[in-house]
Amino acid sequence: MEIIQHIEARRSIRAYTGQPVTEEQVRLLLEAAMSAPSAHDTRPWAFVVVCDPEQRRRLAETHRWSAMAAKASVVFAVVGNPAMSEHWVEDCSAATENILLAATGLGLGGVWVGIYPVEAREETVRRTLKIPQGWRPLCLVPVGYPAEEKPPRTRYEEEKVHHEIWHKK
Ligand SMILES: Cc1cc2nc3c(=O)[nH]c(=O)nc-3n(C[C@H](O)[C@H](O)[C@H](O)COP(=O)(O)O)c2cc1C
Repeated sequence: MEIIQHIEARRSIRAYTGQPVTEEQVRLLLEAAMSAPSAHDTRPWAFVVVCDPEQRRRLAETHRWSAMAAKASVVFAVVGNPAMSEHWVEDCSAATENILLAATGLGLGGVWVGIYPVEAREETVRRTLKIPQGWRPLCLVPVGYPAEEKPPRTRYEEEKVHHEIWHKK
């Protein structure tokens, strides 16, 4: 049961206290990311860990919903390689969710900032972080100590569940 409570406690946290996230915490978040399931166990992912304030400020300007990257203690760029796997998006998405869940478990907060598949966003992130051609940034994950509180919640919706066959509702 604890794991369900933990999953429901994960919320998008977009305000941070400024207290630094330690190297050990960063390492744990990366371990969580790389524990994600991966098609054929290809693990077509890479992670750019961005602490530098000027770089975070540049990432924050990627689009109108990425501003929190400037205030986070650390931003993870989750990057995938389509040449390594046709399932790179799913694999990198699973890794991203693991970062968010692990952050919650460490008393940290984070948010998924969408980059892929908007080319202009991808280009901004690729240029800022010097990501080589062939690799595509899926998302950014700003992480820090939460400066906002959001309650755990379930969003169970009965009408989205079908048993045995798809029933008209
Ligand atoms: C693919 C994807 C892209 C997202 N992009 C952004 C984003 O660019 N900026 C942002 O503030 N939140 C973004 N979010 C977070 C959602 O807004 C958030 O998960 C949703 O509102 C539900 O809130 P919760 O995470 O607190 O449950 C994104 C989430 C996903 C899955």
